[in-house]
Amino acid sequence: MAKSVPEFVSMKGKDKISMITAYDYTSARIADEAGVDAILVGDSLGMVMQGNSSTLPVTLDEIIYHAKMVRNGVKNALVVVDMPFMSYQADYVEAVKNAGRIMKETGCDAVKLEGGVEFTITINNIVTAGIPVMGHLGLTPQSINIFGSYKARGRDEKEAKKIIENAKYIQEAGVFSIVLESVTKSLAKKVTETVEVPTIGIGAGVDVDGQVLVYHDMLGLFDDFKPKFVKRYAHLKKEAVEAVKTYTQEVKEKKFPTDEHSYE
Ligand code: KIV
Repeated sequence: MAKSVPEFVSMKGKDKISMITAYDYTSARIADEAGVDAILVGDSLGMVMQGNSSTLPVTLDEIIYHAKMVRNGVKNALVVVDMPFMSYQADYVEAVKNAGRIMKETGCDAVKLEGGVEFTITINNIVTAGIPVMGHLGLTPQSINIFGSYKARGRDEKEAKKIIENAKYIQEAGVFSIVLESVTKSLAKKVTETVEVPTIGIGAGVDVDGQVLVYHDMLGLFDDFKPKFVKRYAHLKKEAVEAVKTYTQEVKEKKFPTDEHSYE
């Protein structure tokens, strides 16, 4: 039986939550079989799948396309889908409709959107429509052009206070969980102690309710750059390059295919 939003929320204070991104059937099956609690169809796919320099170009149709594939690969984990840039920022009515499209067309369990107090009406309206919303504070990559860099957020007291206040606002608006990206350990701890919903950290230290990492980062499939918070649990790109090299060599030397891989 797949994990529900209430089951996910009830993990706070009892069991650390493990979350990972996935963008297609195969990666979703791997994550689900490994036993993660939740899978995020992140708009990070704009970088690791599409090769863009930010998440901004990802469209609603594209995220729906990927989320459908992920849904097909998941039996147990909660599946959350990112609302792409400009699918919720301009107008809350449009935001509800777009969140509805994600739920209707993908069969996933919840949506995620970035931002604080300025999105409380939007969050509240999506939740009122029956759609669970995960929040996202700290470094919010859809605002990269305002920030100017992917540096950690909330280092100064004023910004740290704002992030704590925003966590309270979006909790009040109805989010069931909050992603905290690239914030100091102490700030993440404070937010986690302040809110009743689970916090999921990425570059937020250990004192949060759970962790999320990008699939391609943690498996060493993507090596264009490596943020400080990424731990590589495998080096699959290196292995894949070696495997393709061997294949190419065997094709050229007529070592592949042998009779084992040929029909009589
Ligand atoms: O798009 C994404 O993968 C995310 C995570 C970094 C939390 O939002």
